Amino acid sequence: MAKMWAGRTTAETDTLADEFNSSIAVDGRMYREDITGSMAHAAMLSKCGILTEEEGDTLIAGLSEILADLDEGRLAIDPTAEDIHMFVEAVLTERLGEVGKKLHTARSRNDQVALDFRMHLRGECEAITEAVLSLVAALTDRAEAEAETVMPGYTHLQRAQPITLGHHLMAYAYMLLRDADRLSDCRRRMNLSPIGSCALAGTTYPTDRRFEAERLGFSGVVENSLDGVSDRDFAVELLSALSLLMVHLSRFAEELILWSSWEFKFIELSDAYTTGSSIMPQKKNPDMAELVRGKTGRVFGDLMALLTTLKGLPLAYNKDMQEDKEGVFDAVDTVKMCLSIMTPMVTTMRTLPANMKKAAEGGFIGATDLADYLVGKGLPFRSAYKIAGGLVATCIRTNQTLESLPLSVYREHCDLIDEGVYAAVDLLTCVCRRTSLGGTSPESVRAQVASVKEKLRK
Ligand code: ARG
Repeated sequence: MAKMWAGRTTAETDTLADEFNSSIAVDGRMYREDITGSMAHAAMLSKCGILTEEEGDTLIAGLSEILADLDEGRLAIDPTAEDIHMFVEAVLTERLGEVGKKLHTARSRNDQVALDFRMHLRGECEAITEAVLSLVAALTDRAEAEAETVMPGYTHLQRAQPITLGHHLMAYAYMLLRDADRLSDCRRRMNLSPIGSCALAGTTYPTDRRFEAERLGFSGVVENSLDGVSDRDFAVELLSALSLLMVHLSRFAEELILWSSWEFKFIELSDAYTTGSSIMPQKKNPDMAELVRGKTGRVFGDLMALLTTLKGLPLAYNKDMQEDKEGVFDAVDTVKMCLSIMTPMVTTMRTLPANMKKAAEGGFIGATDLADYLVGKGLPFRSAYKIAGGLVATCIRTNQTLESLPLSVYREHCDLIDEGVYAAVDLLTCVCRRTSLGGTSPESVRAQVASVKEKLRK
């Protein structure tokens, strides 16, 4: 393709340099935003009398034809073009002749690319938010069904206190709700139009930036032209929100992997989301969950790459900034893929409550409740704690559980103990009594479920 700037320079650029310089393989993805942005620009130019109404209409019709041709596969993006902006303008000029050359009045690729990127990412923000909320809904449904399923809760990966599976799942639902909130927040700040900043300093043409912004669905304009073309903080914010979202997905994936091991066997993932081994016939591997955990690193990397690209750049545009898109698109695609796998994996997994109960019974996790029971009998907590510890040691020595230890043994440790101790260390009772706000009781889990369902309706 002939260079737009062949006027300033005389010799051809080197072929390898052209290839090195081209970004169309990455930014071709934004062709819709590029074209609709140009349509609004043409409308603004004619509305402000910078172009005639007829010229404006011709440009808009030409652009809309290019859009339809690309959408329907009648026109292919030229991989040798420098970028999507140059490509669209070249096709337009080829089709319309002289008037096509007027489109780029009162703008620059610097504000154009910032515009396209913001428009494209705000759409991705919406799509990812929706996908996050679907996962929240799936978790909430499962949590409701498992509000009374007792399992061990862990600290230091040691059995700590009995909890319900519903409670555990709702913890992730809340984390993800905040992720959705961060994405909406990021979209809100992103949704300001940079177009009209031009190369860096604004323009002498009597443009109407607000008109163009409104037409493109922005809530306002970036008020400083240098800021408009120089910053990519909106993309950094998105990457950081996506990184945090991946932290949550990765921790959950890790638990699914752990829970589906023979050592735990709390759940069984659907065959649809597992693979076999090429050599070990017994294997059922949680590859999809492992990949979610594994792909988290890519998203962090994308965030670090963009931060590093930006950190030393003087204002305004520098070509380094062309490197902004690839990593962001990679993160967006990765996160979308992970979410679209996680949601059905959650809805189809089988829970194995009997195994969770067995694990819960094996860890003396009613010991805190035993101490609380003794406090109820009038002992100070520290003394009660010590007695409960001694009872656990006796259980371990004699191979018993707090549930099976005879009352006579209990009484050897503390004569305040009576029959009521068995109800106190019963796991379901332990769980049911944790009715404090946000606690693990089925009642509290149901309240969490209701609250999240209400938020999802809004
Ligand atoms: N392809 C370029 C990018 O993605 C578009 C902006 C080019 N601007 C320039 N002054 N060379 O950043």
